[in-house]
Amino acid sequence: MTITVTPTGEACGAYISGVDLTKPLSQEDIRDIRQAWNEHHVIIFRNQPLTDDDLERVSSDFGELAIDPFVKSIEGRKHLISIQREADETSPIFADIWHADWSFKANPPFGTCLFSIEIPPVGGDTLFANQVAAAEQMPDDLRQRVEGKMAIHSAKMGYSKKGSYGDKFKSKSMEVVASDEALESETHPFIIKHPESGKESIYGSAIAYIVGIEDMKQKEAMDLVMEVQRWQIQDQFVYRHKWEKDMLVMWDNRSVLHKATGGFEGHRRELHRSTISARPEDLKYDSL
Ligand code: SIN
Repeated sequence: MTITVTPTGEACGAYISGVDLTKPLSQEDIRDIRQAWNEHHVIIFRNQPLTDDDLERVSSDFGELAIDPFVKSIEGRKHLISIQREADETSPIFADIWHADWSFKANPPFGTCLFSIEIPPVGGDTLFANQVAAAEQMPDDLRQRVEGKMAIHSAKMGYSKKGSYGDKFKSKSMEVVASDEALESETHPFIIKHPESGKESIYGSAIAYIVGIEDMKQKEAMDLVMEVQRWQIQDQFVYRHKWEKDMLVMWDNRSVLHKATGGFEGHRRELHRSTISARPEDLKYDSL
């Protein structure tokens, strides 16, 4: 089977057609999809009525399935979580802050797969910010100030007991397990080299989850982190993804930031998500 890749024409993202994800993929399909993913950072498959088994199978074609450290998995599916919100819920929108998934880990997952089950008629778009373009176009002065620096990543603002998804977060449909593990931190270079494409990108984002810079005073560090974030999420780098039912979107956390949005009050929204780590044999460069 030969896939067709159609760029969104926006800052990143491409639609992939010519493949039926409900059936096992050939090695050739996997190779071609991976290539399109590396090039476009976000790939979108329309009209794919996937079961949870299919979602796990397709995700594991591209890497090792990972287990969410803070969100309770779907019953009987330790590698899948449900991003879910009932029509009458008033709790804050989950993940409506720019981030790269689990960048607070030593070996963060490179990819995330999100499959739509129920999509509201309005709102609930997901935003993606192209960090390869943001790195390429970064002004020299800003670039010099982050060059060689290690950003400190932690989940404490989100998933510690006092964090935004901590003890005060009440959701009918998503169970967040806040814990002291969220207080731990890891460092990653501000600018990383993508292990497969070799392209540079700006990795991670302020607050979720960058909370400081190694060997810098906190105020000075966070001023710089916020300045970088203002650069990272400018409109020219952002693609707004509009969902349809039975759509699979896969993004590369090493080259995009993402963020959920609200605007669907009174409507139900449900998507199932897997997160994948790279297998060492799939990587060409020594980096994330
Ligand atoms: C996520 O960050 O995985 C959620 C994105 C969304 O709900 O649009």
